[in-house]
Amino acid sequence: MEDSLIRTFLEIYQSFPEVYSSAPGRINIIGEHTDYNLGYVLPSAIHLRTFFLAARRKDRKVRVWANNFNQEQSFSIDKLDSCGNKGWIDYLEGIYWVLKRRGASLDGIDALVHGNVPLGSGLSSSAAYEVSVINALDHLCDLKIAPLEMAKLAQKAENDFVGVQCGLMDQFVSVFGQKNRAVFLDCEKLEFVHIPLRLDKERLGILVYDTGVRRELASSEYNKRRLESAQALKVLKKSGVKNYKHLTLHSLRKRGGDLKGELFKRARHVVTENQRVQEAVFALQKDDFEKLGALLFQSHESLRDDYEVSCPELDLLYECGKRFPDCLGARLTGAGFGGSGIALVKKEKIPAFKQMLLDKAKQQGYPQPAFYEVAVGEGKKIHK
Ligand code: GLA
Repeated sequence: MEDSLIRTFLEIYQSFPEVYSSAPGRINIIGEHTDYNLGYVLPSAIHLRTFFLAARRKDRKVRVWANNFNQEQSFSIDKLDSCGNKGWIDYLEGIYWVLKRRGASLDGIDALVHGNVPLGSGLSSSAAYEVSVINALDHLCDLKIAPLEMAKLAQKAENDFVGVQCGLMDQFVSVFGQKNRAVFLDCEKLEFVHIPLRLDKERLGILVYDTGVRRELASSEYNKRRLESAQALKVLKKSGVKNYKHLTLHSLRKRGGDLKGELFKRARHVVTENQRVQEAVFALQKDDFEKLGALLFQSHESLRDDYEVSCPELDLLYECGKRFPDCLGARLTGAGFGGSGIALVKKEKIPAFKQMLLDKAKQQGYPQPAFYEVAVGEGKKIHK
């Protein structure tokens, strides 16, 4: 892979890249829709990555070849334009935009981007892309950006330039991920620890089930959930609650008397999900994968019934998971409304589980799903 990308770069630009950066996509093991609610998340980086190769130019032009699309686009550093929907170039332009606002002195570049994180699948191909670019520019222009700032700047580019209101989780794990470890992050304090995932010990694998459902409405529904959970918190704050992280289901019931219907359900999801993340960390510390699996199922139920971000194709994964004896747990991962789910399955039984899902999806007339058996990969890196 690495050599072939360098060869392609050489063919296009007749020179070698000065920097070769990459960053991973992610799965979220548990802790969904809790990042922007300043709670807990437990994602891990995966082996699928985005690669970004670049060399400085003498002018202010940024010219980039998107290898997956066989397409070239360019822009000028002096005319960054967020008027949107230009597609994949926006993410790169967005990184230039945040760095420029930070006062960085930036060079024009010739670049090549290549990704193997499937697009639109809920595995954070966008965070992988953003982090691979900012990591490359940091190296190339000697910007000395600390890792946490790198994640925050990448998120800002996506929020304010590309216009997607994501939380910090995806960019954070793309920067800080470690091989065979999940990242337990407190999104209020921005403190984190790496939690070992000793899946091999129990001969377990993580299967990603990509529903093939790509919903345009995902981002507007995502923003709606953000508003609803903020609205519910506003009500809770009147009775002295600082944020969701400090509540239990019991105290939510006591203090959330004014919360009705949907708003109560949104709050209940966030509160119980924060607790599940902490329980998942305890379970992993004891290699208790049965317990972890049970928490995954509960998380899905809460996302389906209380936060209402599932869809029939993702529910199918949950239902098959419940019926398949060697699946310990399954849930949607990421924002929901389509995209992907994850399942914790005995390694040797993964082919049979895949077949079950394929058959059931076909019977229901759902799009044909794709599967990825993911390894827990490492965060951003510069290839030497
Ligand atoms: C998307 C966002 C994340 C997070 C998840 C839901 O992946 O990018 O910040 O909010 O949805 O947990």
